[in-house]
Amino acid sequence: MNNSAWLQRDWQHLWHPCTQMQDHEQFPIIPIEKAKGVWLFDFSGKRYLDAISSWWVNIFGHNHPLLNAALTTQADSMAHIMLAGFTHRPIIELSEQLLERAPPGLNRCFYADNGSAAIEVALKMSMHSWLNRGNPQKNQFVALENSYHGETLGALSVTDIPLFSHTYAPLLRAPLRVASPDCSALPASAWEHHSLQQFQYMQQLLSEQHEHIAAVIVEPLVQGAAGMRMYHPVYLQQLRQACDHYQVHLIADEIATGFGRTGTFFACEQAAIRPDFLCLSKALTAGYLPMSVVLTTETIYQTFYGPYATMKGFMHSHSYTGNALAAAVALASLKIFTDEAIVHNNRNLSLELGRGAQRLPSQYLKHLRQTGMILAFDLCDASGQDFHPSERRGLQLHQAALRRGLLIRPIGNRVYLMPPYIIQSQEIAFMFDVLAEALEETAREPARLPDHPTVYPSALP
Ligand SMILES: Cc1ncc(COP(=O)(O)O)c(C=O)c1O
Repeated sequence: MNNSAWLQRDWQHLWHPCTQMQDHEQFPIIPIEKAKGVWLFDFSGKRYLDAISSWWVNIFGHNHPLLNAALTTQADSMAHIMLAGFTHRPIIELSEQLLERAPPGLNRCFYADNGSAAIEVALKMSMHSWLNRGNPQKNQFVALENSYHGETLGALSVTDIPLFSHTYAPLLRAPLRVASPDCSALPASAWEHHSLQQFQYMQQLLSEQHEHIAAVIVEPLVQGAAGMRMYHPVYLQQLRQACDHYQVHLIADEIATGFGRTGTFFACEQAAIRPDFLCLSKALTAGYLPMSVVLTTETIYQTFYGPYATMKGFMHSHSYTGNALAAAVALASLKIFTDEAIVHNNRNLSLELGRGAQRLPSQYLKHLRQTGMILAFDLCDASGQDFHPSERRGLQLHQAALRRGLLIRPIGNRVYLMPPYIIQSQEIAFMFDVLAEALEETAREPARLPDHPTVYPSALP
């Protein structure tokens, strides 16, 4: 079957995530037959370089022989057993190895099956832990402007992206919101100062309301889904000190930043801090299976430990908690980190990314920024002016890149690259060549407002 046959069947039955489906009348969905390394192949044999690691998960690319082997070997012995009342080798070893790599002082792992679920776990655990310690009034959360923590209701409450949260506001419990330390519009030399300055808003809020605050939740170093807004580690250092001082938990949401993405294994390492809760998912299984985990301290664990009748236990579960296949792949992925010195190699790769970005036509972009293996910039017109979001220039760029065999997925007019760590020099060159051409093409084209007729032929019936 060819692309359009699959497309027709998809169109009849599927409802795709994070998508206004009507857009696909103009921009057909692409059926993928197979994937290998950094490449995705459609049914006509056309290939696309996956420059965003398929929503930031496939850190070792696609169809990796060692990960495949770990998956099939585990499947031969056991795919899944419930983690309540039972345990198994892969989940024990994975917990040991994650804790070994995590900031010292984290010594318990609680599993779930996606990033948002990990956030729900951390929020509930924090509030419940204060309750168990006799502080029921500590039940509010502090979240940053521009934050993204997922889209289930608890996670969405602490998310600050109106596109996702506005409609559901009646279902959400508003957190205390603090100005973002976002330094994206500033040169790197100003990041430390700006991050420190922005911290004063957090400091003030904590000093005034800490008695009612259970936890502060942050995405360390990079606010991803709000458009790769970056800040300096000094903000995290200050935050750790203030959380200690005011007796407030610190939740580090490293669902996007964990596993080598920012230049260290965990982003928190760059601030040398230990959060009270470290939330991980996405790259945990290198894009093979859904899994998430919350790492926490023995102190917090002990606040839940007691006789059943006291109702202190953490009564949270998901059917697929601690899935053995996912754990086996996660272990294999950690082994690749060790055997192939991935974090070290990523430093060279990120330098190469930085050099590649210098080849882009600079008149069409601004706020070029980078943290490790995340490189981002904002689109602008040739006079440096921002585009109006309704022009959907990012979407035009996305399409121009796809036509040339490159998968990027700009967030509004913010463009980013987060390629798999196995990307080779010639593939990096291809990525920037195509991006440069796509930027030129997008700049030449008139804005394609939503109700403009398309010039891109529809493959839909
Ligand atoms: C920082 C962060 N937290 C939480 C999530 C939610 O993860 P999931 O999509 O697996 O629910 C994401 C997803 O992009 C994220 O980037």
